[in-house]
Amino acid sequence: MPQDQPPLQVALLGCGTVGSAVARLITEHGDDLAARIGRRIELAGIAVRRPQRARSLPGVPAELITGDADELVRRPGIDLVIEVIGGIEPARGLILAAMANGASVVTANKVLLAEDAGSLFAAAEEYGVDLYFEAAVAGAIPIVRPLRESLVGDEISTVIGIVNGTTNYILDKMDTVGSGFAETLAEAQELGFAEADPTADVDGFDAAAKAAILSSLAFHSRVRSADVHREGIAEVTSADIASAREMGCVVKMLAICELTDEPEPRVSARVHPAMIPLSHPLASVGDAYNAVFVETRSAGRLMFYGQGAGGAPTASAVLGDVVTVARNRVRGALGPGESNYASRGIAAMGDVVTRYHIRLEVADTPGVLATIAQCFARHGVSLQTVRQQTLAETAGGEKQLAEAQLVLVTHQATDQALQATVDTLRGLSEVAEVSSVMRVEGN
Ligand code: HSE
Repeated sequence: MPQDQPPLQVALLGCGTVGSAVARLITEHGDDLAARIGRRIELAGIAVRRPQRARSLPGVPAELITGDADELVRRPGIDLVIEVIGGIEPARGLILAAMANGASVVTANKVLLAEDAGSLFAAAEEYGVDLYFEAAVAGAIPIVRPLRESLVGDEISTVIGIVNGTTNYILDKMDTVGSGFAETLAEAQELGFAEADPTADVDGFDAAAKAAILSSLAFHSRVRSADVHREGIAEVTSADIASAREMGCVVKMLAICELTDEPEPRVSARVHPAMIPLSHPLASVGDAYNAVFVETRSAGRLMFYGQGAGGAPTASAVLGDVVTVARNRVRGALGPGESNYASRGIAAMGDVVTRYHIRLEVADTPGVLATIAQCFARHGVSLQTVRQQTLAETAGGEKQLAEAQLVLVTHQATDQALQATVDTLRGLSEVAEVSSVMRVEGN
């Protein structure tokens, strides 16, 4: 190792759960990191909003803490800036200033990347620096680099991920314990698996940002959070989960990124709960774990699995990027820039082809099944399976109108046709209730 070279100077922005783990790893594993890079790296400063609090963090060098992030990123001689603050501003301004100062950037900021990756990549290009972001999607799991580098010679058709640990934990507990959404969420909050404000996770914002990043990389096109169709898990009921079980499925919150069919392939990115067969590789991903399933033309099916959050696991992904960027610096090289040459348009959710599971409570009288079947036929939706169960024929000894429960699973159709079918079903006098509607994926 060239010992005569001065250490690379690293600035850390943010010292929360991930930042403090990063600071500790850089400090404690300096010798190994230096051997892997070919030069030492040195923490030049750690910028935080509340310096007083950060100074007492164990393993974090108190003398490096500063409240002045603007000064730190503009300081002469900074080679690498690690941004783990999150959010749009001040993170974006700080990253752009760091790049203008000649520093490469490692960030875990999914919200910013899914909103404005274009300006970050443009600045990286302009100033000849690196932009790495492995930790922005699925924590410790290597998925950004596989899409950006390992699989870049292949043709990716689908990326389906469980990319939010909180919602996976809640759905998994609803499935295994049999409890409802609200009580499972409350328990998850008590145990620290869900945030006090769970909106970003439960309503799918977090997963949508990750889906935007994954789609951009997989399909060489710019995809932003706003382009991702988003439905959360708050409406998932114990009855949906039970219905999934009866079909040999499990309910998962999925991020689905795919290309729609010719003549003009478009990017479809969506996050929503869906039933997937127990035989699907993603079905066995339990607790707060994440996994990403990728299908490509040549490599076939690949599965990436691991911890999607947490200080140490996410810091592992950050450190991997730090070593890579530092190696690039030592060799005077640069990693890949933005690849958006395909510039695919975004598919409307209505045009996306999927399948529905629908459960109805209907009057058990002659002709009802035919009426329901006609409703599907009128919308051009083909039925795959129909299951009927009689619910009640008498109550209090008196003969009542018999009710039946119908569980229908469709063949593939456009989401628009499926939605229209459900809307029509809701208006039929024969239908007492449409008690569960959920997409079925992964066949
Ligand atoms: N809150 C996220 C999750 C982790 O539950 O997976 C950070 O993206």
